[in-house]
Amino acid sequence: MTDISDGKTRLVCSFCDKDQAQVVKLVSGPGVHICDGCVDLCMEVVVAARSEGSSRGRGPDRLPKPHEIRAFVDRYVVGQDKAKRSLAVAVYNHYKRIRTLPAQSVSGDDVELAKSNVLLLGPTGSGKTLLAQSLSRILDVPFTIADATGLTEAGYAGQDVDGILLRLIYAADGDIGRAETGIVYIDEIDKIARRPDGGSGTRDVSGEGVQQSLLKLLEGTVVTISPQNRGSLATQGSRSRSAQEPTRIDTGNILFIVGGAFAGLEKIVEARLGARSMGFGGTVRSRQRPADADLLEQVLPDDLVSFGMIPEFVGRLPMITSVRPLDREALVRILTEPKNALVHQYHRLLELDEVELVFEPAALEAVADLAMERGTGARGLRSILDDVLISVMYDVPSLDDVSQVVVTLEAIRSGASPVLHRAQSSSPYTLNSSVEAGSSKAPTSSK
Ligand SMILES: Nc1ncnc2c1ncn2[C@@H]1O[C@H](COP(=O)(O)OP(=O)(O)O)[C@@H](O)[C@H]1O
Ligand SMILES: [Mg+2]
Repeated sequence: MTDISDGKTRLVCSFCDKDQAQVVKLVSGPGVHICDGCVDLCMEVVVAARSEGSSRGRGPDRLPKPHEIRAFVDRYVVGQDKAKRSLAVAVYNHYKRIRTLPAQSVSGDDVELAKSNVLLLGPTGSGKTLLAQSLSRILDVPFTIADATGLTEAGYAGQDVDGILLRLIYAADGDIGRAETGIVYIDEIDKIARRPDGGSGTRDVSGEGVQQSLLKLLEGTVVTISPQNRGSLATQGSRSRSAQEPTRIDTGNILFIVGGAFAGLEKIVEARLGARSMGFGGTVRSRQRPADADLLEQVLPDDLVSFGMIPEFVGRLPMITSVRPLDREALVRILTEPKNALVHQYHRLLELDEVELVFEPAALEAVADLAMERGTGARGLRSILDDVLISVMYDVPSLDDVSQVVVTLEAIRSGASPVLHRAQSSSPYTLNSSVEAGSSKAPTSSK
């Protein structure tokens, strides 16, 4: 991929091998490059495939099976077995359902496959949004991810729920029919809970109001999107529809997956379970408090109502599944295993400077431990690594003879500088002794 015969790094297209200098533009991703010519070619292939796909010629053999969906998601998401299985099944059933729709309406006596929206709960930073994002990459139906935090009731300032549908139509390239069989993931759904036995503060009221508005979508309704509201969509290149004509979209067959951390829900479950286990002749069991994750796995619709979700809303979410907090081992795997794992990314960044980045295994474990202390799941990993590597990434490009950087346990634990090995010398650099750009450049580059 990189040709360094003349001493300088030259990038070449990974597809046609053309040199950077021979093309108009070379786009780089982690470990690959593509030239403008190959992008054009790919676009043609993709456009052809899409139009074939939307003309519905596909046999049932094209349905990705739950195991395949799972295997794909595994490339991005570590652990979370239970949630992966539930989501794979939900998505697969959704496919089957929309495939049989035309048949159902003709033969009225068919078993009707009911829609099964999903609620995904569990602690922050443990992969809920990532699961949704990974699913969206393999699915063959339009998929959009929305956030409930900014949603408002229709008529209030902010994004109203119709905006979600607009995004879905956009994901379907303006094809309303396809959008009607799409999947919507709504994140941070717990942020629109009505606060239990709270007063009627403004946000509480609107939280419930937003639930009401979303409920309509979940139940299945025909939403009319006025031309004004569609404005942004029209400029994004939807298929030509009359500018005056309102867009009508039926949400009856759209699959909704909603996710949220639901902090404190485990206490509600615990209280319910505790209340039930009492009264058995006063037996006092030496009860050890069950883990939060185990409690969350036992959530019932009533617990969600106690949390502040309206019963009708909960009633529209027949499948409830949860993610578990990530332990140390999972966090280390997250650092190193997924396709675009952080360690691979930093490795690649330094490789472009012709420097090899090495992490001591103990250092990775220490990163995981620090992230666990922060309590934000895998979210903390990036900033911990950034803190350690920023000085390396700042200085190394100015030091021509660095061949290897080793991130040690001390670098993570006590803020020591990572060790910088030089190609020509056995004594490593130490970064703390403030390196000045240019001052220590080796006369010849060795690599
Ligand atoms: N199970 C996981 N596997 C791989 N990466 C994860 C996992 N959980 C979290 N991450 C990382 O942490 C980031 C935040 O996770 P996210 O999915 O947004 O968490 P949340 O559960 O709060 O939605 C992700 O972008 C990803 O890099
Ligand atoms: Mg999230």
